[in-house]
Amino acid sequence: MVASMLLKCIGGNLMTDTLKDRILQRFFAAVGLLSVLGLLFVGGSVLAVEISESARTVPLDETGNMITLTEQQYVNGQNEFRKTCASCHVDGITKTNPDINLGSEALALATPPRDNLQGIVDYLRHPTTYDGMDSLEELHPSVTRPDLFPNMKNLTEEDLVDISGYILSQPNILGYRWASGKPGR
Ligand code: HEC
Repeated sequence: MVASMLLKCIGGNLMTDTLKDRILQRFFAAVGLLSVLGLLFVGGSVLAVEISESARTVPLDETGNMITLTEQQYVNGQNEFRKTCASCHVDGITKTNPDINLGSEALALATPPRDNLQGIVDYLRHPTTYDGMDSLEELHPSVTRPDLFPNMKNLTEEDLVDISGYILSQPNILGYRWASGKPGR
């Protein structure tokens, strides 16, 4: 249809059949190429959602030093979080204890404060109750007890850093939707 209209537009009857064929071929080749390019464009932009440098910059320690994760660290942190933590902490909530979530406020008010990268890495080695009084090593996944939490066994030091950085960057990216427990994402 479209093609025959196109041919009429460009003077149909005056042309030889081979010339018509060639024009048609080019027309379809161009349409094909454009749709492939279109798919690549849409697919590419969906896959490679870029996280800005400022969103990847998070508190390093309790004294206010900051650290910027590389894009690779961010992606690794996200993958490891999804694999190992999201079953309980999806979108920053804590399924079995909603008060102690992974949002900035809850992390900041823990003892010791966990709203910095070192604080969370420390938690993943030696988790403690929110008031800091008791060890949770037998209850919360940590690298210290791979016998109890086998999927913590393969996490390297770098993975712990990347996961913690990922958690701390989420308020920069999702805002109130992180750790709110509200639907809508
Ligand atoms: C089996 C469920 C479960 C899994 C899996 C889990 N957590 Fe937790 N997490 C909890 C619970 C429950 C608490 C609250 C503990 C308490 O009562 O103090 C918690 C607390 C925390 C806290 C302290 C939050 C605060 O506000 O002080 C951090 C940080 C944390 N988890 C990080 C992680 C990370 C990172 C992973 C993945 C490596 C992970 N958790 C895997 C259940 C889980």
